[in-house]
Amino acid sequence: MSTKDKNNKARDESVNQLSPTPSFLSNYKWWLVSFIVILLISFIIQRQTVDKKNSIKKERLFTPDELQSYTKDELYLAILGHVFNVTSAPQFYSSTGSYKFFTGRDAARGFHTGGTSAEDLTDDLTGLTDEDIAGIYGWLTFYQKQYPQIGKLIGRYFDSNGTPTEHFSNVLTSVNIMKKKKEEQARFEQQWPPCNSEWSHDAGKRVWCTEKSGGIERPWTGVPRRYFDSSTKTERCVCVKNADQQDGRFRQYEDCSPTSIECKILD
Ligand SMILES: *[C@@H]1O[C@H](CO)[C@@H](O)[C@H](O)[C@H]1NC(C)=O
Repeated sequence: MSTKDKNNKARDESVNQLSPTPSFLSNYKWWLVSFIVILLISFIIQRQTVDKKNSIKKERLFTPDELQSYTKDELYLAILGHVFNVTSAPQFYSSTGSYKFFTGRDAARGFHTGGTSAEDLTDDLTGLTDEDIAGIYGWLTFYQKQYPQIGKLIGRYFDSNGTPTEHFSNVLTSVNIMKKKKEEQARFEQQWPPCNSEWSHDAGKRVWCTEKSGGIERPWTGVPRRYFDSSTKTERCVCVKNADQQDGRFRQYEDCSPTSIECKILD
């Protein structure tokens, strides 16, 4: 064998030694496939346990008739379609309790009207204002804090799949409108805080500004001005920072110096 031949043979052997590479590659592919399969299986198992957990937690759906049967041993009530277990408070919800009218039904309207007639003890909120409805929603959040929620009531606010209805999204719209109004009001009060006011039979009404009148702490006092709130259609006193500010919304009190921090109202 010439040296050249030897070299060639060595190269051939080295090529042969490299030949396991393709089989390693295909092994590698198998590993990859098995890995993906294992990953998929574990994912599916995990999903199934999650689904199982959800189905355990899944709330019960009540028909109005079913709910009506929980007024004796176990006490349930609904508000805006959310069913709560109020068994722990028989002093309120048993047949002799002070809120017995709310047990076994969704009497959402009654939470606003406070009445106990058939027109009050309904979940129909027709004719109520956004503010009224937001108030009722406040009761829902009260029950969510105080009592275990155990299901949904099929009817006005949830369909037979437990999906919220248009009526429920209308409630949420009212709640959002009121939330925005409150935020707007808070911004207004930061800029034009309410005055202090006092009334006595002899002296009549007195309004005055301080650095924290209306609960708005600020580094200025301001002067009292009459403000007509078109949304509530009522007049009230606000403290305006600069006495010489020209703003048609704020009018001076009669017989009161425009720079005085206090005015007497002679009605
Ligand atoms: C309702 O509450 C009562 C008392 O707290 C409890 O004994 C009962 O198991 C509860 N029912 C459900 C369905 O959670």
